[in-house]
Amino acid sequence: MPIPKAELHLHIEGTLEPELAFALAARNGVELPYADTEALRKAYLFEDLQSFLNLYYELMAVLRTERDFEDLANAYLARAAAQGVRHAEIFFDPQAHLARGVDMGTVVEGLWRALGDSETNHGISTRLIMCFLRDESADSAMETLEAAKPYLHRITGIGLDSAEVGHPPVKFREVYEAAAALGLRRVAHAGEEGPPAYITEALDVLGVERVDHGLRCMEDADLVARLVRDRIPLTLCPLSNVRLRAVDVLAEHPLPAMLDAGLLCTVNSDDPAYFGGYVGDNFDAVRSALGLSVDRLRELARNSFVASFLEDDEELRAR
Ligand code: ADE
Ligand code: ZN
Repeated sequence: MPIPKAELHLHIEGTLEPELAFALAARNGVELPYADTEALRKAYLFEDLQSFLNLYYELMAVLRTERDFEDLANAYLARAAAQGVRHAEIFFDPQAHLARGVDMGTVVEGLWRALGDSETNHGISTRLIMCFLRDESADSAMETLEAAKPYLHRITGIGLDSAEVGHPPVKFREVYEAAAALGLRRVAHAGEEGPPAYITEALDVLGVERVDHGLRCMEDADLVARLVRDRIPLTLCPLSNVRLRAVDVLAEHPLPAMLDAGLLCTVNSDDPAYFGGYVGDNFDAVRSALGLSVDRLRELARNSFVASFLEDDEELRAR
């Protein structure tokens, strides 16, 4: 039996497995520039975040209808359930779909067709977190928030993702303020490839409650002390960090040092179809590469519920 856990850093578009990509391409009459699933898998050799993002956005062309988003989410939920996930806070990237002529309602209602029945069908409670693409303009983010207004009953929070370096959190101050005024929870990717100062800025300027990745906090002792003191959760993604070359090899991942420092770390899968594993696979990988004890793994699983946006009573039920 896998340890019950919550997944807090998961891009639903990053769960698009090659087999489903080809099935949806055929259903929608979309031509993919790869001969077959094997040829596509061979393209999964990334040098950095941008080289991954290029493929990630390219493959989204197959997602066109509500049913596509429903199938995508159900495929993820089934795999996550098999790996012990009881609760999932799921990112989606509406701007990448709006730019292709797929509207907000198609994305959100399509995902909801799976998420709305997820507790019954998969034993997983869910939340949706809408991410803004940080390499798009602040105006575009604000327009996206506006487009989401009819769907806010389905959306728990906002996040910030895509190419990090050169796009500091401060660029999105106004949209985060507007989202906070609407009662949305706030998270942001920071310190994946970008400097520790982006983590500090995400806390100070965007008011984030949780930092996605946050890996590079270890370069700033004062920031680590602050994250420990304020119990700010970090959603780490070890297999992603290796595939995107944020760390050279898993055995050198700073997770043990981060736990020793008292940071509230969680382990997640990020884009599991691309990075070689779902969240349980990430747990297994850090156990074997880093020699984490069973107590440490249980601490990581416990942290995932503590760091979630579940209310206390829901959290106890999910564990
Ligand atoms: N979008 C999907 N995966 C991402 C990641 N690891 N970092 C930034 N943006 C992303
Ligand atoms: Zn991510």
